Amino acid sequence: MTKNGRDERFTVAVLGPGGVGGLLAALVARAGYRVICLAGDDTAGVLRADGIRVRSGRFGEFTARVEADTELREPVDACLVAVKHTTLDAALARVPARALGDGLLVPFLNGVEHPAALRARYGPDRVAPAVIRVESTRTAPGVIEHGSPFAEIDLTGDTVARERLDALAGVLTAAGPDVRVQADEAAVLWAKMSFLAPFALLTTRYGMPLGDVRTLHRTELTALVAETAAVSRASGGPADPATALARYDAFPPGSKSSMLRDAEAGRPLELDAIGGALLRAAARHGVPVPVAERLVRELEGAGPR
Ligand SMILES: NC(=O)c1ccc[n+]([C@@H]2O[C@H](COP(=O)([O-])OP(=O)(O)OC[C@H]3O[C@@H](n4cnc5c(N)ncnc54)[C@H](OP(=O)(O)O)[C@@H]3O)[C@@H](O)[C@H]2O)c1
Repeated sequence: MTKNGRDERFTVAVLGPGGVGGLLAALVARAGYRVICLAGDDTAGVLRADGIRVRSGRFGEFTARVEADTELREPVDACLVAVKHTTLDAALARVPARALGDGLLVPFLNGVEHPAALRARYGPDRVAPAVIRVESTRTAPGVIEHGSPFAEIDLTGDTVARERLDALAGVLTAAGPDVRVQADEAAVLWAKMSFLAPFALLTTRYGMPLGDVRTLHRTELTALVAETAAVSRASGGPADPATALARYDAFPPGSKSSMLRDAEAGRPLELDAIGGALLRAAARHGVPVPVAERLVRELEGAGPR
């Protein structure tokens, strides 16, 4: 421990230094911790040479020096996983279970199914899922635009000792984001999913921002929010469709989901991790979700993802 009470020996690896991972890597490094970014050859080279440049209304403009490698080669206290679902399997090859040692694996991906897959691979007590509310974009390798005034993290993990979550929360809090440690993993993951799935599926299906969806496709939005809430409730999560609708109504009309941004840019969609996972959970619990089924089908049919 140092005199300011922080354990500056804490080492954090970040797999996927993009919008989310790059922002967190830069903030944690700026706070004085050792950070090792794990990326492909080209991105790792850029990060080693130039560090990570962040532009953020909340955290300021700064450049943080980080280490970078193509693979984890030593134990770390935590490895934040911030790739997209579509590249998760390939990216995990950079984090051999042996190298991770006793470290925590902390996925920041949207969706609800990846924690089980990670636990099967790394062991139950190694995986502590996080949910992040932020809007952050990697505009070029090592260049991050953090656009939202907020950066909020819920850290959870039913299979992980509480003191390990608290230690990581201390590091992330010192770096800047608002961090909470939450006891109920299903509730945390489904709270995010309940909000995200209707927003992502409808804005992407109709190729329009939230303001247009909530006026032009109000009936569908209301039905989909109710379906998602029912699946969430059956899965051990919260179910409050009225609050979800009120949150959509309070968002700026130009808000776009990251799935819509991916579609506009011709990138693969996290459709299976969000829409697909919603349908699978509905089927498991016998919850009818006709609107979600149709939207996922239409999005799947819209072209290669
Ligand atoms: N961005 C947000 O505001 C936000 C908010 C909440 C949740 N999320 C969720 O967070 C997750 C990450 O999203 P994101 O927007 O941060 O994605 P992103 O900006 O596309 O960043 C993903 C990063 O993963 C890297 N990557 C891809 N394949 C890799 C591989 N095989 N090995 C190592 N690195 C690899 C990319 O490397 P290169 O840089 O070399 O391309 C990129 O830096 C998603 O599940 C998303 O839904 C995002």
